[in-house]
Amino acid sequence: MVTMQKTLKTYATRVGLGLVGAAALTTMATPFLAGAAPVHAAELGSSHVSCPAGTTAKYDPEYGVPASLIGEDSKTKTKNAGTAYSSIQCYDASGQLVAYGNDAILYKFPASSLAPLGEKLYQQNCASCHGTKADGVLPTYSAGAYPALRGLGPATINFWITTGRMPAADPKEVQAARKQPRLNPFQANAIAAYVNSLEPATPGIPSVNVKDANLTAGQTLYALNCAACHTITGGGDALAQGTYAPSLHVATPTQVAEALRIGPGNMPVFSGNLTDDEVRDITAYVTESLAKPTDIGGVGMGGLGPVAEGFIALALGIGILMLVSFWVGERQ
Ligand code: HEC
Ligand code: HEC
Repeated sequence: MVTMQKTLKTYATRVGLGLVGAAALTTMATPFLAGAAPVHAAELGSSHVSCPAGTTAKYDPEYGVPASLIGEDSKTKTKNAGTAYSSIQCYDASGQLVAYGNDAILYKFPASSLAPLGEKLYQQNCASCHGTKADGVLPTYSAGAYPALRGLGPATINFWITTGRMPAADPKEVQAARKQPRLNPFQANAIAAYVNSLEPATPGIPSVNVKDANLTAGQTLYALNCAACHTITGGGDALAQGTYAPSLHVATPTQVAEALRIGPGNMPVFSGNLTDDEVRDITAYVTESLAKPTDIGGVGMGGLGPVAEGFIALALGIGILMLVSFWVGERQ
């Protein structure tokens, strides 16, 4: 009898301890389960990136949630390369993706509440060329004359408007030039919200954390990927058939990151081949080092460009050599 009581007691203790243990484990695991309260990157040890207020965040394993919560990008299979397959995704109450990214770049979609205003602005400023439904189809049935804008993603719309390329001044131009924008950034956002409501797409509008960039890495990546077209100083250069790579000295960090992720006109798209960290480094190098060059000695030649400056150096050099040889000749 005594033995039996003792056994029962031990058993009860074990069950009790087991329950306490299970409860503790559940509590500890709660943040990792789907549907848990939003976790902000700041709490997980990363300093600056968190989802916009009122949205729910999902993070991949490096931030503490299973990768299964984060979809994989079917095209590039590359994480953190400008697509929604990124370390952080932010969803609104209706389950819509409103932002995604990581410590280097956060890509945001313009608020869908701006779409009605965007539609008005679109019909006034864009529909005459891109069609009333943004499908490139005009009332005159001349489909294909202008590009369709559906499914291009907010970064593309934002880039072409904020760099003043659109609305186009002269649609017959070989390449729409950068100019003083006609629409302001708020209006650009509204139009992007409207076009995105017709056919949702990525990339969102990048906001780049240039503060944490590695400028040395940016310089190397720039030389490898960009200098061939934009020149090593970022001054720009002519390309084939009346097209040109423009100067990079006035683009904002958002515009540089947009250009890389969307590849405007004849520029290639840099998606799977450059990570967001690399895009951040290049962006910082372009906007901080190239746009604000510090003269590293030598005689200024008014920034004539490498060919002209090289020619001046050559002419001066030969001149000096000729003087020296005259002088050597005289002495004999
Ligand atoms: C007068 C005609 C005209 C108007 C108005 C116009 N566009 Fe365009 N758009 C063009 C032409 C032509 C191109 C091709 C230009 C190029 O490749 O350099 C273009 C290209 C674009 C592209 C790039 C498409 C791609 O496939 O990469 C976007 C985005 C764009 N326009 C958006 C807009 C928006 C938004 C508006 C209104 C704010 C607008 N456009 C107004 C004629 C126009
Ligand atoms: C094959 C040539 C080529 C390469 C390589 C290239 N670009 Fe471009 N880039 C262009 C062309 C062409 C345009 C203008 C497109 C248009 O307006 O239709 C452009 C436009 C841009 C713009 C917009 C500038 C403005 O303010 O209007 C930026 C920023 C830019 N490029 C950055 C880069 C960076 C950074 C790299 C390297 C990662 C790069 N490009 C690589 C050809 C190139």
